[in-house]
Amino acid sequence: MEKNYAVDLKNISKEYNDVTVLNDINLYIRKNEFLTLLGPSGCGKTTTLRIIGGFEQPTEGKVIFEGKDITEVPPYKRQINTVFQKYALFPHMDIFDNIAFGLKIKKISNDEISKRVKEMLRLVNLQGFENRSIDSLSGGQQQRVAIARALVNEPKVLLLDEPLGALDLKLRKDMQIELKNMQKRVGITFIYVTHDQEEALTMSDTIVVMDKGVIQQIGTPVDIYNEPKNAFVAKFIGESNIVDGIMHEDFLVEFCGKINNCVDKGFEKNEKVDVVIRPEDLEIVRPEDGMLKGKVTSVTFKGVHYEMIAKSEDTEWMIHSTIMKPIDTIIGMNVSPENIHIMKKVRE
Ligand SMILES: Nc1ncnc2c1ncn2[C@@H]1O[C@H](COP(=O)(O)OP(=O)(O)O)[C@@H](O)[C@H]1O
Ligand SMILES: [Mg+2]
Repeated sequence: MEKNYAVDLKNISKEYNDVTVLNDINLYIRKNEFLTLLGPSGCGKTTTLRIIGGFEQPTEGKVIFEGKDITEVPPYKRQINTVFQKYALFPHMDIFDNIAFGLKIKKISNDEISKRVKEMLRLVNLQGFENRSIDSLSGGQQQRVAIARALVNEPKVLLLDEPLGALDLKLRKDMQIELKNMQKRVGITFIYVTHDQEEALTMSDTIVVMDKGVIQQIGTPVDIYNEPKNAFVAKFIGESNIVDGIMHEDFLVEFCGKINNCVDKGFEKNEKVDVVIRPEDLEIVRPEDGMLKGKVTSVTFKGVHYEMIAKSEDTEWMIHSTIMKPIDTIIGMNVSPENIHIMKKVRE
């Protein structure tokens, strides 16, 4: 088997009482990469993680770890550790004992334990916190203890299930960067679960977008953002305008009654497609200069840009622009061919 893979999921399916929650998941996870499972609530992220961790058995398929089949191996014998959404720290133990817990079970010498706990505290930026109690720490600090406790066992893979979910926005942003840096420093594989697309885009080397127990797309953040494979991914990964279109021939698409140049090809003649245009790619121009025309129905200031909705016939266009047009203004909108993304229709 390929030696560069840490984990390899082969045809994994999972059913609960005849309901399929994972449907033929195939996924290679490279050593040292930061891979994120991203998707809406209930799409099967946690179940996938639990199968990798060994807390759940797949109904079908295999879990391969560094080339060996570990499907039947119990969690504690896998070189994989988990950080859960709730910190699950021991409240009656101080920070030192919380982090040292796994090492004490392994009967490692006290000197060695002491040294490794100190190293971990440095790694998660909590030097000198050894004797503090858990409840004297903030949520972010507690989560860092949980991460230190998992990393101190030197797992080859760390599973993180929405570990920042309970933190407020500002702290979450800081922790995203810290976690990413930590992963680079320790150089182990992180498999991260989130339903937050921004978080996934910020942190990941690879993003796996899931919906209804099926992998929709695997790619780098840039790939996923710029080249979403279908309308689900486009909608989920960022706010997008998605309209029906017809691909007349290569590089020529019709939508909203207009025929436009685009940069996509390889569709059947007159194939029905989804046309995706990101809000920041719609340029506001004078009504007579726009390939699209609409009336502004809503304006919201978002800090760096304005978010406006412009309505034209039965389509509402979302626009992100630093230029503000007041409600009821008739505006023109243009989009350049490379920003018109053509996607195959998803079959439900
Ligand atoms: N132990 C279980 N028994 C029955 N159904 C379950 C169980 N665990 C998860 N599910 C179902 O599996 C689906 C996927 O759940 P989950 O993996 O937790 O999704 P996510 O983490 O993406 O929100 C959901 O519909 C959930 O209700
Ligand atoms: Mg979950």
